[in-house]
Amino acid sequence: MRDDTHFRQFVVPRATGHLYEPLGTAAVVEQGPAGVRLHVGAATVEIAALAPDLFRVGLFADGRPVAYASEAIAQTVWHAGPVAVERQDSAVHVRTSAARALVQLDPLRLCFEDAAGRRFAEDDPELGMGLLPLAPRGSRLVDPLGPPTRVYKRRPPTERYFGCGERTGGLEKTDSHQVFWNTDPPVEHTASLNNLYVSIPFLLALDRGAAWGLFLDNPGRVEFDLAREHPGRAWFGADCGDLVYYVFAGPTPAAVLDRYTELTGRTPLPPLWALGNHQSRWGYKTADEVRAIAREFRARDLPCDALYLDIDYMDGYRVFTWDRERFPDPAGLIAELAAQGFHVVTIVDPGVKVDEGYAVYREGRDADLYCKTFLGAEYHNVVWPGTCAFPDFTNPRARDWWGEQHRALLDAGVAGIWCDMDEPTVFIPTPATLPPDVAHPGGGTPRLHAQVHNLYGLLMARATREGLARLRPDRRPFVITRSGYAGLQRDALHWTGDNSSWWEHVWMSMPQLQNLGLSGLAWVGTDIGGYAGHATGELLTRWVELGIFQPFCRNHAAWNTRPQEPWAFGEPYEGHIRKLLQLRQRLIPYLYSLFDECHRTGAPILRPLLFAYPDDATTYNADDEFLLGDALLVAPIARPGVEHRVVYLPRGAWFHYWSGQRFDGPAHVLARAPLGEPAIYLRANHPLPLWPAMRHVAERPPDPLSLLLFPAAGEGATSLYEDAGDGYEHERGAYARRRLACATTATTVTVTLDAQEGAYQPPRTQVELLLRGLPTRPRAVRLDGAPADAWTWDAAILRLTLPASPRAQRIAIELDHSANQA
Ligand code: GLC
Repeated sequence: MRDDTHFRQFVVPRATGHLYEPLGTAAVVEQGPAGVRLHVGAATVEIAALAPDLFRVGLFADGRPVAYASEAIAQTVWHAGPVAVERQDSAVHVRTSAARALVQLDPLRLCFEDAAGRRFAEDDPELGMGLLPLAPRGSRLVDPLGPPTRVYKRRPPTERYFGCGERTGGLEKTDSHQVFWNTDPPVEHTASLNNLYVSIPFLLALDRGAAWGLFLDNPGRVEFDLAREHPGRAWFGADCGDLVYYVFAGPTPAAVLDRYTELTGRTPLPPLWALGNHQSRWGYKTADEVRAIAREFRARDLPCDALYLDIDYMDGYRVFTWDRERFPDPAGLIAELAAQGFHVVTIVDPGVKVDEGYAVYREGRDADLYCKTFLGAEYHNVVWPGTCAFPDFTNPRARDWWGEQHRALLDAGVAGIWCDMDEPTVFIPTPATLPPDVAHPGGGTPRLHAQVHNLYGLLMARATREGLARLRPDRRPFVITRSGYAGLQRDALHWTGDNSSWWEHVWMSMPQLQNLGLSGLAWVGTDIGGYAGHATGELLTRWVELGIFQPFCRNHAAWNTRPQEPWAFGEPYEGHIRKLLQLRQRLIPYLYSLFDECHRTGAPILRPLLFAYPDDATTYNADDEFLLGDALLVAPIARPGVEHRVVYLPRGAWFHYWSGQRFDGPAHVLARAPLGEPAIYLRANHPLPLWPAMRHVAERPPDPLSLLLFPAAGEGATSLYEDAGDGYEHERGAYARRRLACATTATTVTVTLDAQEGAYQPPRTQVELLLRGLPTRPRAVRLDGAPADAWTWDAAILRLTLPASPRAQRIAIELDHSANQA
């Protein structure tokens, strides 16, 4: 916790700080249509309903102005529907159609309740909300940054905690202390590390199947104590600024995520190529080396859509330049690669080399766009290029300028930008970030680094995304970043930084990606194969078994490690990896449909089982397996020399992808998963859209589209979304979305392709239905009521070809009564 105001006039002896003072009696000073404003001593507190299931609480100490402006927030205008603000003797109730905030005035304590009478996010009766002033008690000194603040909530013994953004350790965060302060941690991330590169102070709580959420919006240092200090309490605190938090009533995880991503923004649809396989390494040092990598992929028939250039492409690590000796003709190289179906992504770091002979540095300096020392000089520290200046991304002019710099890369044909070292990382002392008293002049809204630290990566990514959108308005920006803050999903995808080629990290990536998804950041991935340390063929293959299900699928490694391209370890690994990458490529229509769902509702793409089965407490710790959408459950192996593992299958019928064997959940089953065949289960009656195997997304029109389906008594549905795969025509109606449903009885399997919504015409002539899991040949197949003859029955797979059509299509498969398979 902060123990310095950073201002000499307000020097505070350490011993006097950090005494928690709960707020006392509140008086109502204003009653609005959707909330109240209170005064408690010198503090102002506001409680407002923003939506039927969303409340905002603000605590502004020491006469600080009421202000909610925040770089995290995407939506500022809300309509809560009918709200009643009810005054009572010593309480105020703010009631919406779905929930109410109960505000007790003496002393001030808050509690929330849904329409079913469930209470959640209830202030601890004794401690409630309060301050930890740094100024000595009784002094009239006012902390210029705003005193540390905190709110204590009661924790029922049945309440469990998840989310909290990017973490090491397991999925469940009950009994933990969470620090939100972006950092470039030492390599070899272990469970003892707390904060990493991204901070999302968002909590998803589950109590006996019902979910609620809390987002504390403050870009300085934030801490959550999730029943670690006391099993009956959780607290949420900020080091400076104001205590602004949002409470989400749920009651499902999906409802919480939907509202949270309405507040902080949704993941835009990516360009389709971004869903393919990506290959990176620090570093492919010359144009010829990059060409050779591309050649290997194509010669070996290994799918790949993107290649990355790490820092070696630059001239002395000066951002937005090319090393003309190693890369004499960037545009020529990129065009050559594009002709083979590769997109090129280049890294950009925030540190701008201090060099009078370097135009980018001079421009930033002359326009006064860099961070300053406390005394007003340009702040310098050392990163890859040596001494650097750091753009003040809180200044909109600096963001515009930074965005514009990407012209140098885009003109050469670069397809996307990789923002790195944006915590920001500096090397002195190593590795660290900017000192808390560095000034961000902010173009007129000055703030100290301590107040805005967690925004640095977010705003660098935002500057990049906005720059790309301006420079190439007809293409969807592709921006990947290491650092960020809540709301990052609007600007960039995130990879989890410098992991290691360890089995422990194969495992760790599962809870890590699941908690990121539960925190609104759905487009995520780890470095497949591990960044630091040396991979082996077995480790790489197992990691690819998991990695092909990551929303972002990229193999990346450090310069001083064993090569780990898919062919690096020879056979049998290369063959397994080929088959797995082909499966990734085949899954693209399903993945893209999940991105569409995520874009509309905030639902994670790779999601924990508890997202879909919150009433099943066994899922809460099943964090070494995950769901991809609704239809697929994946249970990777994360140990060497192991071919078997236990898998938890939640309720319903599930089918093993490779063998077709049926399992009925809820059940723990033993999966055999030899190398190259990860344990994947398809949920019954959920048609899975698949492409033909291709080497990159634009190789040829994906014709036919296959629908893989395992029927079992009951019903299910998935959704299929398609569009041009780039650009914005889909926003003007050029998309195709349809529901794919299946209903199975003892006598019939009925598959329905609902009429397509939207005007896009997918480039195909045929759809192929692949029905597995039937014990015997069906008696008859009918398409839209008429007998169908274009079907075969081979190796227990029913294959029916139908003409592609935007209209509704209905396939009825009549089963042999005697088989009674359903
Ligand atoms: C950082 C990045 C890593 C990159 C390296 C060199 O460590 O996390 O991915 O390869 O810098 O640019």
